[in-house]
Amino acid sequence: MSSTPVPTVPISGGAAMPMIGFGTWQLSGEDAYRAVSTALEAGYRHIDTAVGYVNHRQVGRALADSGIPRHEVFVTTKLLPNSAGRERQALERAVDQLGVAYVDLWLLRHPPRQDPLPAVWQAMAELADEGTARAVGVSNHTTALIDTLIWETGRTPAVNQVAFSPARFDPQLLVEHAERRVAVQGYSPLRHTDLSHPALTAPAARLGATPAQVVLAWHLARRVTTLPSSTRPDHIRDNLTAAQLTLSAAELHTIDTLDQHTAALSATPGP
Ligand SMILES: NC(=O)c1ccc[n+]([C@@H]2O[C@H](COP(=O)([O-])OP(=O)(O)OC[C@H]3O[C@@H](n4cnc5c(N)ncnc54)[C@H](OP(=O)(O)O)[C@@H]3O)[C@@H](O)[C@H]2O)c1
Repeated sequence: MSSTPVPTVPISGGAAMPMIGFGTWQLSGEDAYRAVSTALEAGYRHIDTAVGYVNHRQVGRALADSGIPRHEVFVTTKLLPNSAGRERQALERAVDQLGVAYVDLWLLRHPPRQDPLPAVWQAMAELADEGTARAVGVSNHTTALIDTLIWETGRTPAVNQVAFSPARFDPQLLVEHAERRVAVQGYSPLRHTDLSHPALTAPAARLGATPAQVVLAWHLARRVTTLPSSTRPDHIRDNLTAAQLTLSAAELHTIDTLDQHTAALSATPGP
């Protein structure tokens, strides 16, 4: 099957990152293999995993069995902060389990107690220079933490992966990342979204789409890479084709303020 065209964003390190990636948190064993295989077959060319998801081997087997050339799939994994001092071993173990020569993106996950980890970040950046990770980034970092990493090491993360959805729309976060040339990846686009909200169902009806597709199309319009996850083949396929939807400026604005609408609705006195 040919790939559904999905826009990409250039990230430092030279890669083009597809703006819809398949999330694999909570997918384990054969479920992970099946879901990632379905995603690749549907046309996803960006897979997000992490050592903590315990599915590297299944993701790697799905990649290998797909027959898709390695360079066509953007693969992300993450380093847990408790691997401080063992960064090289952690990366070598991850690529070995995934069965790949390199990952496209290696993220430093949530710093414990929100302390910056410049030594870990420096070690990751140096390993990236050796080529086993094409780019390095962070996850769940505030821009203040990112600034500390940049200040201490001179290396800017290519990406920050953070929770993002209409109910958590934060234009200031987007501005601050754009100023630093850090691409934003948003996780949990659907988990915390009320898919029955009229701000989503109205454009869905107009476009003959689903509210979930509208949510994902909104992410792309706001230049946020999104990482939906699903165990259902129909959802997996639908989520990718969200890239083909165009929302109007008014629809985008209404979705931007969805949390305020929700608050206003819940504040409206009942009959
Ligand atoms: N860096 C971090 O700290 C961090 C944290 C959390 C997540 N992540 C990454 O981000 C990814 C996405 O987050 P998430 O797992 O919370 O995913 P999500 O996509 O926001 O939520 C998944 C849920 O949405 C449902 N869903 C998916 N497609 C749907 C559709 N078209 N219509 C209706 N429901 C749909 C799924 O149910 P069905 O299975 O029934 O479709 C599932 O219950 C993760 O898998 C992981 O890769 C990173």
